[in-house]
Order: sequence, then C-alpha cells, then structure tokens
Amino acid sequence: MTTLIGGLGTSHVPAIGGAIHKGRQQEPYWKPFFDGYPPVQQWLQEKKPDVVVIFYNDHGLNFFLDKMPTFAVGAAEVYNNADEGWGIPTLPPFKGNLDLSWHIINHLVDKNFDITTCQEMLVDHACTMPLKLFWPEGECPVTMVPICINTVQFPLPKPERVYALGRAVGEAITSWDSDKKVAVIASGGLSHQLEGERAGFLNKEFDLQFMESLVSNPEWATQFTNHDLVEKTGSQGIELLMWLAMRASLAVGPGHGVRKVHSHYHIPISNTAAGLIALEKF
Ligand code: DHB
Ligand code: FE
Repeated sequence: MTTLIGGLGTSHVPAIGGAIHKGRQQEPYWKPFFDGYPPVQQWLQEKKPDVVVIFYNDHGLNFFLDKMPTFAVGAAEVYNNADEGWGIPTLPPFKGNLDLSWHIINHLVDKNFDITTCQEMLVDHACTMPLKLFWPEGECPVTMVPICINTVQFPLPKPERVYALGRAVGEAITSWDSDKKVAVIASGGLSHQLEGERAGFLNKEFDLQFMESLVSNPEWATQFTNHDLVEKTGSQGIELLMWLAMRASLAVGPGHGVRKVHSHYHIPISNTAAGLIALEKF
C-alpha cells in the first residue's frame, strides 16, 4: 500500500540556483534563507520518500504563451532541465515515475479534469529548485511526477478548482498500488510581483496568515478569487495556488489532518517573500 507521508511548500527564485552553484549559502544575504532548510532536509532523511509529486508553474520553458494548458501532468521516464535564461547552470536529468504518472492521469480524467498529458517535458527552476533545496547533496534520491498549474497567463484556474485538483491527486496517490512512500511538493509564491508599477510588492501579513491556514483551515484560501489573490500577493504571488493544491492532496483518507514539522519565512530573496513549510499527514 502506498503511504502519503506529507507535503512541502517552498518558494522558488532562480537566484537561489546561482547561490547554490557559487557556494554562497553562508554569505550574509543568503544565510537567513538557507538556514530554514536543514530541519526539512532532516525530516526527509528520516521519512525517506521514494517518489514526489510536484505542483509547480512553468515559466515559459516547456509551455509558452501560445499554448498554455491549465493543468498538465508529466508522464515521462526522464525530465530534462534546460537553459531558461536566468544564468543558472542546468541540472542533470531527473527520473520520472511512469507508473504513478499514469495512475494520476487516469484518475484525474476519470474525475472530469481535462488535463494535458506530457510524455516529454522540460522542467524549469520551479520544478528543479525545490529538489536541490531538499536534497542538496549528490543525486536526487526520488523519482517524480511533475504537475503544472497555469499561474502565468489569465484565465487561471480558480482556487476552489485547484483545491479539487489537489484532492483528486491525493486520492490517486493513496489508491496507487505500490509499496512506495510519496511526498507532495508545492513550488511557488509567496507574495511577489516582478513587473509593472507594483514591482517589489510583498505582503508578509497575508503570507503568514496563508501559511497558518494550511495547518488549521486548509480551504481558507478558496474564499478568494484569483484577482483578490493577485491584489493581496502580487502578480506572481498567485503561485501560492501550488501550496493550496499540495495541502488539498493531504486532505484525503481517514485522517485529514496534518502536523506542522517546520516552517520558515524570510523577506526578501530577490523580489520574493521566501516561504517554507513541511506538513506531516496523519
Ligand atoms: C523571481 C521569482 C519567481 O517566482 C520566478 O519564477 C522568477 C524570479 C524573483 O524574485 O527574482
Ligand atoms: Fe515563479
């Protein structure tokens, strides 16, 4: 029987990849950010997931504005990283988990989600950075199933729809016939805006309330429209929808609850409020 051990949420910023590459983790700018991760790395060393499902948004590497699926699920044996123009080094290929991919895809279509299935998929910093932050040493020890949620080009899926997607992914994971341990990762947010008059906008109060809601009241963020969320968190802060999907995936089975293992919040990294959370399912 598959065990869904819990979920992780982290912000992604390309500059983090540069800092890792240049070994800058102990420098004053970076230390408060990287210091958030060891407790989560340790939890993962103890729990030893075999597979991760990653909710993230592609930023123009695999999907561009001319073809933008609302939800896309990877079904590849290998996911390649490629130069996406941020000056970060490309990472070696990541191993997929085909069996879980197709199980999730079948379950989602059965539950009326009209997804795009990708048997080839380049993965950008949003997918690769969490893996490097959670397993900084050596080869990535998990296989993965990447799931893209469009937060790049309107119209975006509503928070309640994202929550429903997350639930359905959780049902698929827990009904997967395997002896594997699975963790769900969310990559994105928290508040940030990269362009326009509000470039640099951050909202610590909302971010912390949102992080707290994931523990105590997981559907809290579904009360907002996407326009509300952009207003409150910035035009890229809306990436926090990934965290909502991750939390929803844990709200399945007999125990809907989670225990907070660790959280961390640091402002800013580049233009972004960098959040981190680890939730253990019970
Ligand atoms: C930054 C943040 C992002 O979410 C992203 O995808 C790219 C850049 C930033 O703050 O620099
Ligand atoms: Fe982003």
